[in-house]
Amino acid sequence: MPFEPAEWPRKLRSQEWYGGTSRDNIYHRGWLKNQGYPHDLFDGRPVIGILNTWSDLTPCNGHLRELAEKVKAGIWEAGGFPLEVPVFSASENTFRPTAMMYRNLAAMAVEETMRAQPIDGAVLLVGCDKTTPSLMMGAASTDIPSIVVTGGPMLNGWFRGERVGSGTALWQMSEDIKAGKMTQEEFLEAEQAMSRSSGTCNTMGTASTMASMAEALGMALSGNAAIPGVDARRRVMAQLSGRRIVQMVKDDLKPSDVMTKAAFENAIRTNGAIGGSTNAVVHLLALAGRVGVDVTLDDWDRLGRDVPTIVNLMPSGKYLMEEFFYAGGLPVVLKRLGEAGMLNKDALTVSGGPVWDEVKDAVNWNEDVIRPADRALTASGGIAVLRGNLAPDGAVLKPSAASEHLMKHRGRAVVFEDIDDYKARIGDDDLDIDETCVMVLKNCGPKGYPGMSEVGNMGLPPKVLKKGITDMVRISDARMSGTAYGTVVLHTAPEAAVGGPLAVVRSGDMIELDVPARRLHLDISDEELAQRLAAWSSSVDVPSGGYAKLFHDHVEGADTGADFDFLRGCRGSEVPRDSH
Ligand code: FES
Repeated sequence: MPFEPAEWPRKLRSQEWYGGTSRDNIYHRGWLKNQGYPHDLFDGRPVIGILNTWSDLTPCNGHLRELAEKVKAGIWEAGGFPLEVPVFSASENTFRPTAMMYRNLAAMAVEETMRAQPIDGAVLLVGCDKTTPSLMMGAASTDIPSIVVTGGPMLNGWFRGERVGSGTALWQMSEDIKAGKMTQEEFLEAEQAMSRSSGTCNTMGTASTMASMAEALGMALSGNAAIPGVDARRRVMAQLSGRRIVQMVKDDLKPSDVMTKAAFENAIRTNGAIGGSTNAVVHLLALAGRVGVDVTLDDWDRLGRDVPTIVNLMPSGKYLMEEFFYAGGLPVVLKRLGEAGMLNKDALTVSGGPVWDEVKDAVNWNEDVIRPADRALTASGGIAVLRGNLAPDGAVLKPSAASEHLMKHRGRAVVFEDIDDYKARIGDDDLDIDETCVMVLKNCGPKGYPGMSEVGNMGLPPKVLKKGITDMVRISDARMSGTAYGTVVLHTAPEAAVGGPLAVVRSGDMIELDVPARRLHLDISDEELAQRLAAWSSSVDVPSGGYAKLFHDHVEGADTGADFDFLRGCRGSEVPRDSH
C-alpha cells in the first residue's frame, strides 16, 4: 500500500517540552539556550536527535563526530533543529566478555533516551557490529521516525601484495602461526596493514552485513552500506540523510512503516546474496520482535535456499568492501534480486518510495566482484537452518563460508565442556582427534558464556593444521564472527546451559551433519538421550546481581534473537507518567 504522508504542519512531540510559556517550557527551553540557540528555533520545527555511537574505545566509529557535522548541516538545510546525543556504544573489539552481552542494554538505553527527550526524529550514527542493531532496536521500540547512517568500511588492507581483510586475515594468520607457516614478527607487521583508515571492518563481516541489512530493510538511503568511511561520498550520504530525516518527520514516516514483513524478507534474501554474517540472524529476529513482525528461523531457511551468493567478498570470497563500492554496492545486488523475482519491489524505504525505484537503474561495474548468478560463489547461499535431536529449536550454518566436502559428514564427537576446557586441551598433542572428528563446544550460548561469544569457529588442533587441513565440522551454541569461515554449526538451541541436548553429548558419540537435508543428529537412541537429559544439571554460575543478573534472568534463546523477554515489542513514544 503506498505511503500516505501526514498533514503538515502539525504539533510535534518536542513542543511538549519547548512550545509554550509555562514554567516547565521555560525550564526546558531556557537551559538549552545557554548553548546560544535563538528563540525562533523552538517554533515547532522538527528536533532531530543525532544518536552518536562515537567513542575513543569504539575505533570503528571513531570518525562519527566529523560525520555528525555533515548530518547537522543537512538537518539545518532542511529546516530542522539538530542536537547531537551520545549513546551507549558497544564496541566489538573492547567489550568483554562480548559486545553482544551489551546489545540489549544499548538498545534499552537508546529507547529510553529517545522517549524521555524532545526528539521528533533520529539519525542513528552507527557502524561497529552491535551499534547498528542496538540503535535500530531502540528506535523500533519507540517508533519515532529514524534513519540509519553507517560510518562505512575501512579501505582495503594490503600486506606484501595481498589483500588483508579485517578479522578474516586475523583468523588465517593465527592458524598459520600454529601451523608454523608464519612468524610472530610477520604477524605484528601485518597488524597495521589490517586497519589503515577510519571505518568498520572491510570484509563482509557483521558490521558490513548489518549496514547492508539496514539498507535492504529500507532504513538507510540507497547506497549507504558500501561507501568507505573516508570517501567524501560518505559525508555526502550523511548530509543527505540529515536532510531526509526532517522530511520524514514532517511526513510521519516511522520505523513500523518501513520495517514490514516484506522488508525483512528482502533483507534475509540480501543476506544470502552478499554471503552475510550469521550474526544477522539473531539481530534481525530481535529487531522483528521489536516491530512486532512475525519472522522466524524457518523464514531464514525458506527465503535463503534459492539465493545464490553473488558478492565475492571475504570471508566467503576474494575482495573487500572498497571494491564492492566501486562495483556498484548493494543497489546492484537488490536489482539482481528484483530481476530474479526475489525482491518485494514495493517495500517502502526511508526515501518515502518503493525500494525498486531506488535500485532499478543500478549498474554493475565489476562482474568479478558482483558475479552473475551462473558464476555464483555458492548456488544456495542463504543461511541453512538445521534441526534434529541435537538442535530441536534449530541451529544455523553459513554455506558460503563452509567446505563443500563437509556438508554431509558423520564423525566422532570430541567434546569441550566450555571455552576454558577447549583452551586447555586444544593444543595437546595427546588429544584424541583427527580431521574426521566433529568438534563440540558447550556452554557458549546466550546464558552459558554470557552474551553468546563469537567462539564457534574454534581453531583447529595444531596437529591437524600441520597436516595442511584447514576445516573440520564444529558444533556449538556460540556465535561466530562475521569475518570468520568454516563448516561451523552455530546458535544450537536450546543452548547447553539451559539443558539443551548439546549439554549431554559425550566424546565418542557419533554425530551426523547433513546440510542439504538440514539435519543435525546425535546418533544415540531416544531412550539414551532422555536418560542423559534427566541426569543433567547445570554447571553455569548464576550472577548474584547487577546487569549480569538482569541479562541471565531475561535473555531469550538464539532461535528468537536473544533479546530480553521484557523488551520485545513496540512501546511507542509516549512518556509514561509524565509529571509535567
Ligand atoms: Fe568494529 Fe569490526 S570490530 S566493525
